[in-house]
Amino acid sequence: AAEPVRIDIQADKPGPVIARQIYGQFAEHLGSGIYGGLWVGPDSKIPNVRGWRSDVVGALKAIKVPVIRWPGGCFADEYHWRDGIGPQAQRPPRVNTSWGGVIEPNTVGTHEFMDLAEQLGTEVYLNANLGSGTVPEMAQWLEYMTADGDTALARERRANGRDKPWKINYFGIGNESWGCGGNMKPSYYADLYKHWSTFAKAPRGNRPKLVASGGQELELNWVETLSAEIKGRMDAITHHQYSLPTRDWKKKGSAVGFPEAEWISTLAVPQTIDGYLTKHQEILDRNDPARKVAIYFDEWGSWYDAEPGTDPGFLVQRNTMRDAVLAALHFHVFHRHADRVKMANIAQMVNVLQAMIVTDKDRMVLTPSYYAFAMHLPFMDATSLPVQLTGVPDYTLGKYSIPAVSASAAKSVDGKLILSLANTNPNQALPMQLAVGGKGVRAVTGQLLTAATMDAQNWFDAPDRVKPQPFKAEAKNGTLALTLPAKSVLVLEVQP
Ligand code: AHR
Repeated sequence: AAEPVRIDIQADKPGPVIARQIYGQFAEHLGSGIYGGLWVGPDSKIPNVRGWRSDVVGALKAIKVPVIRWPGGCFADEYHWRDGIGPQAQRPPRVNTSWGGVIEPNTVGTHEFMDLAEQLGTEVYLNANLGSGTVPEMAQWLEYMTADGDTALARERRANGRDKPWKINYFGIGNESWGCGGNMKPSYYADLYKHWSTFAKAPRGNRPKLVASGGQELELNWVETLSAEIKGRMDAITHHQYSLPTRDWKKKGSAVGFPEAEWISTLAVPQTIDGYLTKHQEILDRNDPARKVAIYFDEWGSWYDAEPGTDPGFLVQRNTMRDAVLAALHFHVFHRHADRVKMANIAQMVNVLQAMIVTDKDRMVLTPSYYAFAMHLPFMDATSLPVQLTGVPDYTLGKYSIPAVSASAAKSVDGKLILSLANTNPNQALPMQLAVGGKGVRAVTGQLLTAATMDAQNWFDAPDRVKPQPFKAEAKNGTLALTLPAKSVLVLEVQP
């Protein structure tokens, strides 16, 4: 029999708190991410509260969405907030040039989005239009939302139905300014950011955290330039990295029916992110030793070839067991860097890319990724704990080699010891032994997510194919042994 992997949780060496915002979401005006997926309008036969569909809102409430980033993405740099206020029938239709060239009706605007956030009880992260907007436009949007006095903009907000100012928690200035947000150099963006952020004002006590648009993939130039040049004006720098099985934007790889080579290549991305974040943090530690600037990893997740028969501009893809393992590996990386990574937003919440939920008219399916989020709820605001892993075999195929086991432990806000494990090997179950501080563990209880095939998915014809199952194990002769199934995610409460 194979030697067990030994896992020892170092409960006496608490690390940083895992910000619950690491479990954040991203919802862009893209495909049916908003219209149809979340918003059906108050007159729809689909049950809704003021236009927001009740089934989807209910499912999102259950995963305690901590923060939503809106309205984009690339869409944000073409979005003019005035198009989305006032009577809906009078709002101007525009072309969504970023995503499919479809008509953006502007039915969902600031008031509607903030209503969704209030229904969900979530924080909001709004992304301002630096790419094609102006400084006064941005400044007035913030004033419109936050003004508490008797100004013209506050009166306009009240006339549109909202008396009290809203709390805007995070405010991003531009998105992917190196690309769809304006194809800028970092030094040019740094100057623009200093200029724009000067006028991003809000009443005392209601100031959002200001967020600068950072780099992507293995790029370090943005964080180097921004952290050196923008002192004291930003609370966070963003970073984006997607997981493409082939690394080729022209032919990314299929969401289902893929070869094992694309299972391992996809699951190798979080390890790259881990190494990258270490370098990113070294730069921040040098330029920002007081640790005032956080990293917001505000777009991450799988990106496959679009589902056949759908508009490629709508970024529709199936979601499988691979996505659930991928999500768990990202969580572990973000936990490991929790001293700087204070927010992460999966792309995207509903119907787009690595979605939590897919909808078809009045039907809804919860994806394997949804369940990965649900299982990790106890990690929100938990205190991270180091884990010592011994005897972890590598899982190797072709040019990729990754550890077969990834682990992350923490002490939850209610004082429980929690452990998350992922087995990246799709073929081999692994025996494990658990300990806390070198001492044996009495018992574990939790939830296991696994499936018969790498590409097992939940779909309208089989919505419950991939669903967490209860899991428990007890010590025998002072040793807690368990088997981590192939291609699985296991989240446990550990009783020392
Ligand atoms: O999430 C889809 C797109 O990916 C976003 O709009 C953009 O920021 C990124 O390139």
